[in-house]
Amino acid sequence: MKTDLIIYNVAQLLTCASNGKPKRGAEMRNVDIIENGALAIKDEVIIAIGKSGEIIKNFESENVIDAHKKVVCPAFVDPHTHIVYAGNRLNEFELKIKGADYLEILENGGGIISTVKQTRQASLKELIEQSRRRLDKMFSNGTLTAEIKTGYGLDTETELKMLEAIFELDKTHEIDLIPTFLPAHAVPPEYKEVQSSKFKVQSRSDDYVELICDEMLPLANSKFKIHNLKLPFFVDVFCEKNVFSLEQSKRVLETAKSLGFKLKAHVDEFTNLGCAELAIELGATSIDHLDATSDEEIRLLAESNTIGIVTPTVNFNFGSAHFADARKMIDAGCAIAVSTDYNPGSAPCPSQPLAMAIACRYQKLLPSEAFNAATINAAFGLGLGKKIGSLEVGKQADVLILDTDDFRQAAYEFGGNFVESIVKKGRILNG
Ligand code: NIG
Ligand code: FE
Repeated sequence: MKTDLIIYNVAQLLTCASNGKPKRGAEMRNVDIIENGALAIKDEVIIAIGKSGEIIKNFESENVIDAHKKVVCPAFVDPHTHIVYAGNRLNEFELKIKGADYLEILENGGGIISTVKQTRQASLKELIEQSRRRLDKMFSNGTLTAEIKTGYGLDTETELKMLEAIFELDKTHEIDLIPTFLPAHAVPPEYKEVQSSKFKVQSRSDDYVELICDEMLPLANSKFKIHNLKLPFFVDVFCEKNVFSLEQSKRVLETAKSLGFKLKAHVDEFTNLGCAELAIELGATSIDHLDATSDEEIRLLAESNTIGIVTPTVNFNFGSAHFADARKMIDAGCAIAVSTDYNPGSAPCPSQPLAMAIACRYQKLLPSEAFNAATINAAFGLGLGKKIGSLEVGKQADVLILDTDDFRQAAYEFGGNFVESIVKKGRILNG
C-alpha cells in the first residue's frame, strides 16, 4: 500500500499508547516500546505501526526516513504556558536572586502586573512577533502542541488582543495552539484597594470579577465563537492568597462553564485555598501547580477524570527545594502531566525535556513516567488525548526522532537538545 511517509529502523519506538485514556498510577511507567520499530503515515495520521520488517514489507512510500537505530517518540505537548506577552522581567530576576519573594513583588505592582503594563502598550503585531520567537524555541525542543493563556491584559481590550494573538499565531506557526482565557490572573492596578473612608480600605477585586463574568467571558465567547471551534477553549483562574479567593474563583469558573468553556485552574501554587476540590467538582480538564495540595485532594484527583499538571520549572526557577509531590500523586493513582509553564516570571523555560529532567530529579519520576507526562497525559490535559500525544493508528502524526538509542537518556542528560527530526502531521519539518 502507498503511504506519504515511512519511518523505519527505530531502536526504540515509544508509542505511549493508552487506548483512549490518560495513564494513571503504575500505567505511567509503561511507554509501550516497539524495538526495531517503524510506522507509516498517510493523510496526516498514523496508519500502521509495528516491527520494521513488517511495515517495510506491507507499505511503500517515496518518503522514507531511516532512523538509524535511534529513538522515535510522540511530539511533546505543553499543556500550560503563558508565552503571549511583551517585554521581560530581567530586573526582577536579579531582585529574586537577592532574596525578594514572588508574591511580594506582585503585591508591590511588579511581577505579573509589570508584564501587564508592557503588554498593554504593545501593538498586536509586536505581541505576535515577540511571542513567535518563544514558540520557535519550544518547537526546536520538540513541542508541537501547546496551550497558551491570556492574563497579561487584565482589561477587556488587551485580554481580547491576547486572544487574537493566540489565534493568529495558531494560523501561522507550526505548533498547534490551544487558547485559554485567563483574565482572572491578577487583580489589575485600577481595581486594587481604595481608601473608601478615613479608616476603611475597600478592595475592588469583586468589581473586577464582575467585569470578567459580565463582560469579558461573554465577549470572548461571542467574538471567537467557541461553539463552532474544532479545538477546546479553556477558562482558567489563579486561586491564591491576595489574588482571587475561592469564592471569586468559583464565580469565574461557574460562569465560564455555563457559557460552554472548558475549565482549568491554577491551584495550590503557594497557598491551599480549596480550589482543587472545587475545580474537580466542576469537571475541570486539569488542575495545575499542586504544590500545596492535601492528601484528601490527591485522593479526589485520583478518582476523577481531571489531569493534575505539575510545573517543576517554577520551583526550580525559584531555587526552591519544595516541589509538588508528583510521586505521591502517581502512586495514589492520579493521571499526572508535566508542563513548562513558560512565562516571564515564574518559569522562563521553553523546554519540555528540561521540565522532564527536573521532574525526574526533584519529583522522583522515572524517565518513562516523565515521557508519558509530557506526551499522552499532557494531551489529555488539553482534552486532546484521543487525537495527539501517542503514536497509535488513527492519531495525528506528530513525531520526533531523538538523537539517542535509549529514551531514558533524554531525561538523564539536560541542557542540550536531543530532538533531531520533527514530523508534524506527517510532514518532515527539519532533519
Ligand atoms: O503559572 N501563577 C500564576 N501565573 C504564572 C506566573 C506568571 C508570571 O509570573 O508572569 C504561573 O506561575
Ligand atoms: Fe501558570
